[in-house]
Amino acid sequence: MTTPVLEASGLRKEFPGNRVAVDDVSLTLPPGGSMGVVGESGSGKTTVARMLVGLETPTAGTVRIDGESLIRGRAVPRGRAERRRRARRIQLVFQDPYASLDPRQTIAAGLDELLRLHEPDRDQRRARAAQLLDQVGLDARTARSTPGAMSGGQRQRVAIARALVSRPKILVLDEAVSALDVSIQAQVLNLLADLRDELGIGYLFVTHDLAVVRQVTDELIVMHRGRVVERGLTDEVLTAPENPYTRELLAAVPRDGWRPVRLH
Ligand SMILES: Nc1ncnc2c1ncn2[C@@H]1O[C@H](COP(=O)(O)OP(=O)(O)OP(=O)(O)O)[C@@H](O)[C@H]1O
Ligand SMILES: [Mg+2]
Repeated sequence: MTTPVLEASGLRKEFPGNRVAVDDVSLTLPPGGSMGVVGESGSGKTTVARMLVGLETPTAGTVRIDGESLIRGRAVPRGRAERRRRARRIQLVFQDPYASLDPRQTIAAGLDELLRLHEPDRDQRRARAAQLLDQVGLDARTARSTPGAMSGGQRQRVAIARALVSRPKILVLDEAVSALDVSIQAQVLNLLADLRDELGIGYLFVTHDLAVVRQVTDELIVMHRGRVVERGLTDEVLTAPENPYTRELLAAVPRDGWRPVRLH
């Protein structure tokens, strides 16, 4: 059996006031795998995502990336070298890239700044930036503009390019396509599928959108009040949910093929 690229075991998060946001969550992602995490608002999806990428310290549980334990209970490595090593392997892409992009900086300049952490040579950086922009389908002209002059879909492509800088093995996408128009969303999902083929990168898709989950994930976990209530192959869970909560969740959302109707 191949070593999972991501393996979380018994993750728990208590916020101050004894509020348990995540309770005993385990998941395993094979190299190049794609897993969805669904559940209603407040079920703990983002908290799980943040623990996986090291932005949040688990109260208990472990996260292994490439078979290597990077988080052990409270003992999150705080050293710069350790953080960097983790960041290279797992990256988070979230919903609103606008907030994380410097509005005064061109896309090219921002990418170069990130690349400098990995590549001292200016020409090498330039070549790598061009490759990244090409991988996410952005042209050189767009690279010379600032975030404010770009569309939401373009900004999300920039966010993906930035996440790819460190050649990660896993992208954690937290509602990363939720705010996009349906047609733009489809383009970004296609891009992600291409990158998976090309780079063998694995995905964890946190989303409330079951159409997205059906399109881009192999496996699915369903969260409810901080716990995993159902897991399995995406098709099977969506077609024949076993847990009452999953059934409720499925009944509450529009079916496949549903398109938003604009009301006048
Ligand atoms: N920093 C924090 N401090 C205290 N409580 C928090 C914090 N972050 C999250 N929570 C709480 O933890 C629970 C899970 O939140 P989380 O953001 O993980 O849910 P979610 O499934 O991502 O929801 P959504 O679909 O709305 O994004 C919620 O009750 C939330 O209020
Ligand atoms: Mg969330």
